[in-house]
Amino acid sequence: MSTVGKQKRLTAVDIRKRKGGEKLVCLTAYDYSSALLCDAAGADLVLVGDSLGNVVQGHDTTIPVTLDQIVYHTSLVSRGLNHALLVSDLPFLTFSLGEAETLRNAGRCLVEGGAQAVKLEWQPGGEKVVRALYNAGIPVMGHLGLTPQAIHRLGGFRVQGRSEEQAAAMLDEAKKLEDAGAFSIVLELIPRTLAQRITEAISIPTIGIGAGAHTDGQVLVFHDLLGFPSGVNARHVKQYLNATELLTDALKLFADETHSGDFPGEEHGFK
Ligand code: KIV
Repeated sequence: MSTVGKQKRLTAVDIRKRKGGEKLVCLTAYDYSSALLCDAAGADLVLVGDSLGNVVQGHDTTIPVTLDQIVYHTSLVSRGLNHALLVSDLPFLTFSLGEAETLRNAGRCLVEGGAQAVKLEWQPGGEKVVRALYNAGIPVMGHLGLTPQAIHRLGGFRVQGRSEEQAAAMLDEAKKLEDAGAFSIVLELIPRTLAQRITEAISIPTIGIGAGAHTDGQVLVFHDLLGFPSGVNARHVKQYLNATELLTDALKLFADETHSGDFPGEEHGFK
């Protein structure tokens, strides 16, 4: 059966065209129900981030996240999206061991997971890998600034690009990503003036997290934004809900009603 004309989701090309236009909304999701929520809320992009390691798996870093896990969670999210572009995060070392290996790994996200693009954290020489993916038909989102997979080299989760030397280097990396064919770039935890400088210097959209308001879009981690217990409440996060409190209250009510016998009622049973 032909699939021509069936694609309802946004594409990397649509996202790229939004440069300088209506701000892009990006959210992370890790399963079917969070994907349904993000899509219904009008997200333009949904990222199966390797923040999975922190907010779903309970690790301190994103380093233990595997490609199999990202592929699996991408497949769950894929079933919940009708509108948003689905991006898989390439985990630690899955794009560092040569072009063939990177293509194989990224390809799994599309073939098995249903992603339409991959994201990768910048590493020196990264433009070659982005070019190879682009040539193979795999759209790439770059990631600059705080790149959590390099946490052991960076020495902690702190703002990047504060010195003029670091800022100039990051600007150069952004241009390399653009030249190599990336369709957008995540800017994480950098000074807002640098984010603005990068945003104005390149023709692809920037999506900020802890990078101020002068980017082409914003991304937040689902669990942080909604105040889940595993989310972080750092300065760059705005918590739109206290899910921990709301959900705990509901769960406690269930426990109380089970103890008191108020649940189940007549209406929850069968004759
Ligand atoms: O892993 C992730 O969720 C991310 C976003 C914070 C951009 O990289």
